[in-house]
Amino acid sequence: MDFAKTLIFWYLKNKRELPWRQKKDPYHIWLSEIILQQTRIEQGLPYYLKFINAYPNVFELASAPLEHVLKNWQGLGYYSRARNLHTAAKYIVEELDGVFPLNYKGLKELKGVGDYTASAIASICYHEPVAVVDGNVYRVLARYFKIDTPINSTAGIREFKALARELLDRENPGDHNQSIMEFGAIQCKPQQPLCDTCPFSGSCLALKTGKIKDLPVKLKK
Ligand code: ADE
Repeated sequence: MDFAKTLIFWYLKNKRELPWRQKKDPYHIWLSEIILQQTRIEQGLPYYLKFINAYPNVFELASAPLEHVLKNWQGLGYYSRARNLHTAAKYIVEELDGVFPLNYKGLKELKGVGDYTASAIASICYHEPVAVVDGNVYRVLARYFKIDTPINSTAGIREFKALARELLDRENPGDHNQSIMEFGAIQCKPQQPLCDTCPFSGSCLALKTGKIKDLPVKLKK
């Protein structure tokens, strides 16, 4: 089985049931991805639930006072995320009549939405064939293909992006992207990855050569 097929197969069997995975509404996906940018799922989940409860749609979020939003964000850190969330919600309501941008390019216009978040939303909600590259993706690809180009170098960013794009299941981009992130988060973990039960244990080049602990490479800057 090829890489993408094995991943999806693993995902369907192992994925966590998360509230934003029930439907593909861009407001829900956007909120979850902004929360998860610098936050692990276990820590982010209660905040996601709190936000959906307080602001069930983009109109409610846009009309809430910023101080409310910041108060609800308390404990998560990186407060610029909450400020950008609020700014983007107001922009969507005031400039776009409350309709979320419908593709990667439009999503990138939103404050706080970079390459990663736009790719996640576009692939999950709109089936646009764009590949996400987050810390999980770097780790999985660096290990599987034994790539020691530093992930925080210009060459590395370019190389991993190109590889992620090549591997993407274009028929199924949302599930594909979520499967590689989820795989990185719970199987190919940074510390003590679960190689004994890994579906790639026969083909992972880092495992074959004893390099799991050394990959990915990150430059100290
Ligand atoms: N981490 C951040 N977003 C994620 C997603 N959609 N699936 C799995 N892990 C993630």
